Amino acid sequence: MTSPSSKSYIKIRGGLKLKGEVEVSGAKNSILPLLFASLATQGEHHFQNVPQLRDLNLTLKMLSSLGLSYKQSKQELIIRNTKKPSGNPCAKSAKSFRASILCLGPLLAVGQTVKIPLPGGCEIGSRPIDLHIEGLKKMGAKIFIKNSYITAIAPKKTLKACKMKLKFPSVGATENLITACVLAQGISYLENTACEPEILDLINYLKKMGAKIEQIKKRQLKITGVKKLSPLKQAYSVIPDRIEAGTWLIAGACTRGEIAVKKCKPQHLKSLLEKLKLAGFCLKWSSSEIFLKAGKQHKSVDIKTGVYPAFPTDLQSQFIALMTSLKGASSLTETIFENRFRYVEQLNLLKAGITFKNPSQVLVKGPVFLKKNNITATDLRAGAGLVLAGLIAEGVSKVYGLHHIERGYENFVSKLKALGADIQLRSAKKKDRPSRFEFSGSN
Ligand code: UD1
Repeated sequence: MTSPSSKSYIKIRGGLKLKGEVEVSGAKNSILPLLFASLATQGEHHFQNVPQLRDLNLTLKMLSSLGLSYKQSKQELIIRNTKKPSGNPCAKSAKSFRASILCLGPLLAVGQTVKIPLPGGCEIGSRPIDLHIEGLKKMGAKIFIKNSYITAIAPKKTLKACKMKLKFPSVGATENLITACVLAQGISYLENTACEPEILDLINYLKKMGAKIEQIKKRQLKITGVKKLSPLKQAYSVIPDRIEAGTWLIAGACTRGEIAVKKCKPQHLKSLLEKLKLAGFCLKWSSSEIFLKAGKQHKSVDIKTGVYPAFPTDLQSQFIALMTSLKGASSLTETIFENRFRYVEQLNLLKAGITFKNPSQVLVKGPVFLKKNNITATDLRAGAGLVLAGLIAEGVSKVYGLHHIERGYENFVSKLKALGADIQLRSAKKKDRPSRFEFSGSN
């Protein structure tokens, strides 16, 4: 898919220190599952702190195609689900992002048979959906995959409760199964579940609507099915986006600036804060704000991504941009997605000199002095990492593939500009675009 933003680029003159305050928006990875959960409950769902994002618009298109309506103003969103969802979700939208798979659990829970294309999403690995399918099948749904479409048939009565131990604590599979189990008949036990803050946000919302969910252990849930959920009378506020907050902190660190990241939850970012401290940055935080400034000396660190509370895979490209400026050899090991280093080739166009020790580990020998170039985002978080590298690089760099960044960051460019970055959004003229990249809209 080629959209106007896929032809646009971000122009950055590197070398300026970021200074000032930035407010974090609501979490992309929370609002999407919350919206899909609204499919399982008739009535009006009122959300606050909702970020304006491309993936949010795709979700709203899917909900509309199922008969739901919505009203959006600034950071507020009201979803009206007056009658049982019907029809199939908009295939074009569903195909464009990974989280579309989250419609399966709630739709099957209300007895709706559904046909959707296999989900797209960032091209960062094979991203199978076997755990989603296995769990929903155990609950009585019949699921077939043919010609790149998933057909999920709801049982005649309700879904039945299940006992399942996930072979990996997948975020999406945990969310799909939770929303399916809350209305199933009987008591479900889910083991080895994901426990990211966004999962807890979903559980919190469902519990407020009457769901019976108990977190027995950190990765173990007991869910007693109820007949019906009832939407809240008051608005539900989405948690702050920890990946956005982390991106701003790393941007401040990259430029040796002084920034205050406001409206965030420092307790969701412990692994990042620890690595930034180890690298020599000065940090202070309160319950909803983090302040970062440069230290006296900055040295290399080693990072291994992992499931929460380990270092988030969604912050690795941003931290690698920072590693180029740290003294000594840093390494980053990726354990979640096998194809998450596609952007390294682009970063090396800025003369980063990053090498692979093996396919899941890269080495950065710092400090290297990055030089301007035209580079292209290969996925959402890679896009953020490349822009951060552009903030350090000498001269004017252009980052293409803006449509990836718009999937998950609200006002990305204007927030950086307000922090003092020399950054602009530009429409690309044809001759300007790097010819060897396809703007395929791979999300
Ligand atoms: C979510 C986040 C994404 C983040 C990721 C890991 C959303 C909308 N996206 O993605 O930003 O990078 O968590 O924190 O919340 N897997 C299987 N089988 C499955 C499902 C997953 O093997 O059925 C594997 C995947 O291939 C991957 C790993 O589990 O290697 C993690 O995937 P998962 O946690 O499901 O990520 P997403 O929910 O897609």
